[in-house]
Amino acid sequence: MQSEVQALEAELLALIEKAADLGELEAVRVRALGRRGRVTELAKGVGRLPPEARPEAGRAVNALKGRIEEALLRRRAELAAKEQERRLAQETIDITLPPKERPSGRIHPVSQVIEEITAIFADMGFEVAEGPDVEDDEHNFAALNIPPEHPSRQMQETFFLCAEDEAGTPYLLRTHTSPVQIRTMEAGRPPFRIIAPGRVYRRDYDMTHTPMFHQIEGLLVDRRTHMGHLKGCLVDFIRAFFERDDIPVRFRPSYFPFTEPSAEMDVGCERRQGQLVVGGGKDWLEILGCGMVHPKVLAGVGLDPEVWQGFAFGLGIDRLAMLKYGIADLRTFFEGDLRWLTHYGFSPLDVPTLFGGLSR
Ligand code: PHE
Repeated sequence: MQSEVQALEAELLALIEKAADLGELEAVRVRALGRRGRVTELAKGVGRLPPEARPEAGRAVNALKGRIEEALLRRRAELAAKEQERRLAQETIDITLPPKERPSGRIHPVSQVIEEITAIFADMGFEVAEGPDVEDDEHNFAALNIPPEHPSRQMQETFFLCAEDEAGTPYLLRTHTSPVQIRTMEAGRPPFRIIAPGRVYRRDYDMTHTPMFHQIEGLLVDRRTHMGHLKGCLVDFIRAFFERDDIPVRFRPSYFPFTEPSAEMDVGCERRQGQLVVGGGKDWLEILGCGMVHPKVLAGVGLDPEVWQGFAFGLGIDRLAMLKYGIADLRTFFEGDLRWLTHYGFSPLDVPTLFGGLSR
């Protein structure tokens, strides 16, 4: 038995060394340790020995099995490393090569406009923040000064989910990006200067409403902030965004529970043969809600309203895209029609920047 074990070990170790890739190694493993493998057969042989010889032979075969398994593992690691090196060498990409002249993908106007708006606000020192689409009642409503019985909950056609939090309150799809204001103020210390782009959801559907749309929230909190800052910031933004200094805008007094005073901002526009044109006409399109952060909201996140004030705004991204790029029906944004995207989409190679131009 002893000599048989030794001979088999030498033979199998040689095979293991010789295996040139993982496939070959697997074949050797099956040949040695598989159901009909050589080691397995040898182990079966132990049972046929006279009883007094069995313990020693059994130990020898088991030890052999252990050594073979170890050798297989070691060789497998070696081969896997080699294989990885080979693939890394083969799959190198020369990033200095110029791109193909005409990339076939197009950037959706919503993505384009998010990039443009981000570039403008980044230039004013705002950072990008994010929050979840599935929100809890606390962040979407309560912390924004919208208590359970408040009528403004009906103003917003909320999608509630079946899942509930520990208190038995259903989770919901956020109806606006304003919960990111709360999440930002809870997580950090003032001053704050953030914008938060994202999807929001409401039960609504017509030419200018879809059940899912996009907003950008803006929040600035600092000492001695006032409505003049808000207005200046948004007017500057609108001029930069439309790349024109003569955009007609108006602020209308409005109401939001989480701002006081509150306003809405409209951009002058006109509908001409199914096209939406900025400026000129007699129509106004509402593009954002805004106001000074309500003292109760500040106090709720532990900020003293006597020391800190802020302004906030919520911008409809899709509306801005419609206005800037003359798209009359919002619903077409989400139909996934490639012809539409080819027509209204943007080249992935033109990244919007303030110095290179927002849109080309
Ligand atoms: N969250 C509001 C809406 O969706 C917009 C808004 C944001 C108003 C911030 C004021 C301040 O209608």
